[in-house]
Amino acid sequence: MCGIVGYIGEKQAYPILIDALKRLEYRGYDSSGVSIIDQQKPEMVIRKSQGKIIHLEELIKSHPLPPSTIGICHTRWATHGMPNNVNAHPHKDCSGKIVVVHNGIIENYEELKNALLKKGHTFLSQTDTEVVAHLVEEHYQGDIFKAVQKTVKQLKGAFALGILCLDDPKTLIAARVGSPLIIGIGKNENFIASDVPAILQHTKKVIYLKEGELAKIQKDKVQIFDFNGKAVSFKVDKVTLKVDTVQKQGYPHFMLKEIHEQPHVLTQMFRHCLKPKAVSLDEIGLSDKQLKDMTQIFIVACGTAYHAGMVGKYLIELLAGIPVAIDVSSEFRYRTPIIGKKTLVLAISQSGETADTLAAIKEAKAKGAKIVSICNVVGSSLARISDGVLYTHAGPEIGVASTKAYTAQLGVLYLLAIKLGLAHKTLSPKNASLLMKDLKQIPSLYARILKDKHTIERIAEQNAHFGCFLFLGRNINYPSALEGALKLKEISYIPAEGYAAGEMKHGPIALIDEYRAVICLAPESDLYEKMISNIQEIRSRKGKVIALATEGDAIIHAHADHVIYVPKTNKLLTPLLMALPLQMIAYYIAVKRGCDVDQPRNLAKSVTVE
Ligand code: M6R
Repeated sequence: MCGIVGYIGEKQAYPILIDALKRLEYRGYDSSGVSIIDQQKPEMVIRKSQGKIIHLEELIKSHPLPPSTIGICHTRWATHGMPNNVNAHPHKDCSGKIVVVHNGIIENYEELKNALLKKGHTFLSQTDTEVVAHLVEEHYQGDIFKAVQKTVKQLKGAFALGILCLDDPKTLIAARVGSPLIIGIGKNENFIASDVPAILQHTKKVIYLKEGELAKIQKDKVQIFDFNGKAVSFKVDKVTLKVDTVQKQGYPHFMLKEIHEQPHVLTQMFRHCLKPKAVSLDEIGLSDKQLKDMTQIFIVACGTAYHAGMVGKYLIELLAGIPVAIDVSSEFRYRTPIIGKKTLVLAISQSGETADTLAAIKEAKAKGAKIVSICNVVGSSLARISDGVLYTHAGPEIGVASTKAYTAQLGVLYLLAIKLGLAHKTLSPKNASLLMKDLKQIPSLYARILKDKHTIERIAEQNAHFGCFLFLGRNINYPSALEGALKLKEISYIPAEGYAAGEMKHGPIALIDEYRAVICLAPESDLYEKMISNIQEIRSRKGKVIALATEGDAIIHAHADHVIYVPKTNKLLTPLLMALPLQMIAYYIAVKRGCDVDQPRNLAKSVTVE
């Protein structure tokens, strides 16, 4: 949520800043802005524009920036105040000498603003961020670093900040609580950014700023302090990401590219983790004995990650016999879950920066639970506060709609469930081997589904006009139905509901008529006949049925208007296969309706505010 970039060095700042900012556009895209110091005059120059970054670029083409080797910029996902030019960052103080970009929420901004108003400060925007600029101004007595240090101690909430001051044109200041921020180390140039892909083409050397740290950055020097001004040591990490992994590589959208990456992601995962008679999860951080002693598991996650967690519940209870409770993180953090020392809390998050999930984990940790996270972003906040991390290694996911991260989360959950089943002796080595063998086949089955993508595209296009969709699934594919509906609604804006098929008669059936399409997940399973009965109930009320079924199922054609086949696999593994056609249905419908697939309205990739 919101992307920050800063540059200080010897090159022209603007081209570097704007290019890096575009790589962070997935974090928010309702307005953007840039500020550079005109070192000739000297003067602080700001340009801001409503809408996507392209509008900022157009503005700067017509109102060029003077040369400068220092600047900060921002792409916004609005929290406080409408998405318009005035509320776009950077924000400045009354003198116009101090500028601030911010990611997060300053929770005590009203109290601070009122105090600053009484002292005569003039505010231009409705944002929480503007208080930071004025508060720094209030504390400023010639040393910008000291002023920022005093300021951050007064702020409550979450913030990653980038700050410039005209009086000190050789220093860029950064601070972090809650929201992520990295420092990129170059040769005679340094950077700040919300995420690594922004600066990857300039440097692979990064410092992950920690909670409660403040950085003073010059072109050839980085110093890090705590909020009391005490210097702290830091580590420079070398990132292994490649630049081309954050490019579209010929695909029209990141989402389509990421859908196609799924066979590769799971091949790598299973190659690494599936050993002849065991599952190797090196970074789990718990011994087999500790795993064996766990008597209860809680899963916490949001959105798509929550749906992966729901599949995980079915798997772990079935294979390992351990009771699993699951909560969306925003509920978990505000109730009183019963957690003990033998409770394992599994946190699932692609970004590892989701504010609610981080808060939930902190609650659980305080109650003595062990935390294992399933996470995609190496070094993320979640990874750092967990006792163990099972990385999904799916590579950067740029499309706002999660695809490869979801199937990678499922992959890890299958591996974990098998490991727990073996540790608890509820799964025999023979059955574990069979399941592992079937898992290894999944990537090649994915390749077959992708090969037949034109069938899915055609069916999606034929049904793109429906104004409402229902997704029905049963048992382990009930979460698949929820995920299919989430995917469709978030990128096509069509109202879509996911339901356990058995619940249909308890309400949603009232929706069914000839104007509704119902996507029925009917893979080969013990509940197949029950799903067929549901389909008949829909058809007799004139609803259109699109069925997802197992290859070789000849019966289904008699019941459904359209059938999308997935290859035959172990019944337990069908959520992995259902995911692909569901993602593609959403994708092709959204494309057909002319929606912005990678950057759907109102959303942002990582939800770093509550
Ligand atoms: O980074 P996280 O996995 O914690 O994000 C959780 C949700 O915000 C995320 O899955 C969201 O629901 C996606 N846009 C769904 O496609």
